[in-house]
Amino acid sequence: MKPVLTRFGNQMSHLSGVRAVMKDIVEATRAGKDFINLSAGNPVILPEVEQMWRDCTAKLLSSAEYGEVVCRYGASQGYRPLVEAVLNDFNGRFGLNLSDRNILITPGSQSLYFYAANALGGYTADGELKQMVLPLSPDYTGYGGISLTPEAVKAYKSAIEIDEKGHWFKYRPDFNQLEINEKTGFVLFSRPCNPTGNVLSDDEVRQIAAMASTHNVPVLVDSAYAPPFPSLNFTEMTPILVTTLSTAPVCQRQVYRENDWELRWELSR
Ligand SMILES: Cc1ncc(COP(=O)(O)O)c(C=O)c1O
Repeated sequence: MKPVLTRFGNQMSHLSGVRAVMKDIVEATRAGKDFINLSAGNPVILPEVEQMWRDCTAKLLSSAEYGEVVCRYGASQGYRPLVEAVLNDFNGRFGLNLSDRNILITPGSQSLYFYAANALGGYTADGELKQMVLPLSPDYTGYGGISLTPEAVKAYKSAIEIDEKGHWFKYRPDFNQLEINEKTGFVLFSRPCNPTGNVLSDDEVRQIAAMASTHNVPVLVDSAYAPPFPSLNFTEMTPILVTTLSTAPVCQRQVYRENDWELRWELSR
């Protein structure tokens, strides 16, 4: 039986960027060639990290909390001790004043992107199209296909600063082209960027945030590789919690990855 799919069903049955990459890897591995698998995600299990998780799992198994964790539906905001740990760590580390209402634990950043892409981008009740703006392309392949309204996605080609003598180049947002206006639903970028490793400068982030706050537009910063961990930034960067000068519900998403295990949470104001 081939059921008739809705527009959304059809959209969801396409390969997203991440699924396409995983499919390529499975097929390349199956082909039996002598490939070195450098990706995706976590090609290497670091013994120290594996041991840490083994120890944590053993601790949980023998703790009185085990039944609470495994046998109950939890709060949809996330496991309370984890919410508190994130809260205390970020407030202490960055001198912030977040409350637990600023934190949401999700099973994956992909699901966060999905919520954001479809809650903030797409058609409003009045039929107005709100865009999901990627200010710097290329950006993370996982962002492709998350919007159920593909025409909402707008990516800007980056400007490239080239220093031939110094033998380096850098991706920059092209502020001559970039438009954040009343048609924008939200802005999203990864910092550091997957796949380029580029880190938007603090000034560039602030400039984007300022453009967005003029129109009450949320800016989501995907910090999968940022400090405090795993800190895979090979250049100076300050984690910036974008706050707004207006009364907009500007929020900032931080998605952190710790080697072969990931935590995703969203901090928002
Ligand atoms: C920029 C970026 N964000 C997020 C993720 C992780 O996505 P998820 O949490 O859904 O595994 C990745 C994984 O490669 C990534 O590169």
